[in-house]
Amino acid sequence: MLKVWTREVLSEYVRTKLDGYRLIVVSNREPFQHVRRNGRIECVQPAGGMTAALDPVMRACSGLWIAHGSGDADRAAVDAFDHVSVPEQNPAYTLRRVWLSKQEEEKYYAGLANQGLWPLCHVAFTKPVFEPGHWKTYRSVNQRFADAVLEEAAGQPAFVFIQDYHFALLPRMLREASSNLVVAQFWHIPWPNREVFRAFPWGEELLDGLLANDLLGFHLPHHCRNFLETVDATLEARVDITSGEVCRGGHSSLVRPFPIGIDFDDHSEIAESQSVSDYMERWCRDLKLDGHLLGVGIDRLDYTKGIPERLRYLDRFFELNPKYRGKLLFIQIAVPSRSTLPAYRQLEAEVESLTAKINLRWGNAFWQPVMLLKQHYSQPEMIALHRLADFCVVASLHDGMNLVAKEFVASRVDEDGVLVLSKFAGAARELKDAVMINPFSIEEGARAYLEALTMHPDERRRRMLKMREMVDQNNVFRWAGKFLSDLGKIDFPEFEAPQFAGGRQSHPRVSPLRRLAAAV
Ligand code: G6P
Repeated sequence: MLKVWTREVLSEYVRTKLDGYRLIVVSNREPFQHVRRNGRIECVQPAGGMTAALDPVMRACSGLWIAHGSGDADRAAVDAFDHVSVPEQNPAYTLRRVWLSKQEEEKYYAGLANQGLWPLCHVAFTKPVFEPGHWKTYRSVNQRFADAVLEEAAGQPAFVFIQDYHFALLPRMLREASSNLVVAQFWHIPWPNREVFRAFPWGEELLDGLLANDLLGFHLPHHCRNFLETVDATLEARVDITSGEVCRGGHSSLVRPFPIGIDFDDHSEIAESQSVSDYMERWCRDLKLDGHLLGVGIDRLDYTKGIPERLRYLDRFFELNPKYRGKLLFIQIAVPSRSTLPAYRQLEAEVESLTAKINLRWGNAFWQPVMLLKQHYSQPEMIALHRLADFCVVASLHDGMNLVAKEFVASRVDEDGVLVLSKFAGAARELKDAVMINPFSIEEGARAYLEALTMHPDERRRRMLKMREMVDQNNVFRWAGKFLSDLGKIDFPEFEAPQFAGGRQSHPRVSPLRRLAAAV
């Protein structure tokens, strides 16, 4: 099938349709961090689906990305405007860092965002914490980012593309401050149903903030529906659930699903590189993989990812299939994440104790079934592990999309390997050829491992080919392109004629989105 969206197509699309209008992306997590290691400053990519997905889009489109500068050497790397060009080797866009105090980080990021909104939006049975002090700081940090956007836009038209649940109040702040901005947001995590949302003490203000967006995206249609029903139940607004439109105070917002993807071509190319072959050899040597079957999981150490669950499947699997003792190795990479929070520390202790228990129960002097690696690995190292796996497990209890599932598929340039996938991850809607599980069912998980290990090679190949086709087509450039083209369908008031700085020609009185709409 002919691929419609590529990096080049998106790049050209943005260049011609948003010509003269600045693209400003805003997120909490930055795509590159500068950190001190062994007396040197290194530039690293943090773990997490959002930055991994947006970085290739920004490489294709250029523009400015505003994010929290959280690396311990970040300040040393920026210029007088807090700007740094990234990626280091081949700069393609500018990163503007916003600085937060330890206390702001604790209240806005660790507090409201990750102890409040994260558990509220995920069905993982972790109770959210709502502290008025966290909310107050969340508001002031959103204002800090609004100030940074306005400073960068400098009164000129710009398309501001906000990422995620850290910035629900930012759209309203921007809309009130400037009429020259088109504001859109993508919410990378699920949206809860309206009954659950009622628990959030500042619901009206949060929804009011989000409804200042011209376009609001979620991964799945049912997250959009949950959001629209929440608005309908909470605020005075005209909500059209079928067309995905909310009108409030003379402004309308479109609410649409855009399932995110990855840069499939780039990922597959790396999977075929010499560096990945070298890492494959290294993993085999270091882990003494020789002749063993291999199951793999790669995740942030987060309670939504179902890490204890997948270890329990393994325990049950050995109970039911003792002949696999000594033959199957399971490697879990658990990248440390949000580790100042009690729920994350408890999870870490639980995963460690389960690993020890399973190794004690089933292991022997020559073989330990589970290897837990609690550190961050480079992309080629993780791709190498994916390439070696007989199966990869994604057992999320609830997940907006889960890009690890797509990365595993893109890594399998050999068209082999089985994906065991939770039906509660957004990716399950597209990757129907995975072995699907209810992650809460230990029996299903154990059965899925057996199915993966005994699947006929022809069947493995047939399924992997279909999944590769899907991940290839629904790549991240398509995601960004569809988002932009839907933005172009909105009927906007025309911008005030802007004067470009530096004596450049003033722009015609027509919104970029009108021009975009005319083209799609
Ligand atoms: C999820 C969120 C992202 C976040 C990532 C990593 O994917 O949707 O916004 O960046 O987790 O979490 P962290 O808290 O480390 O940024």
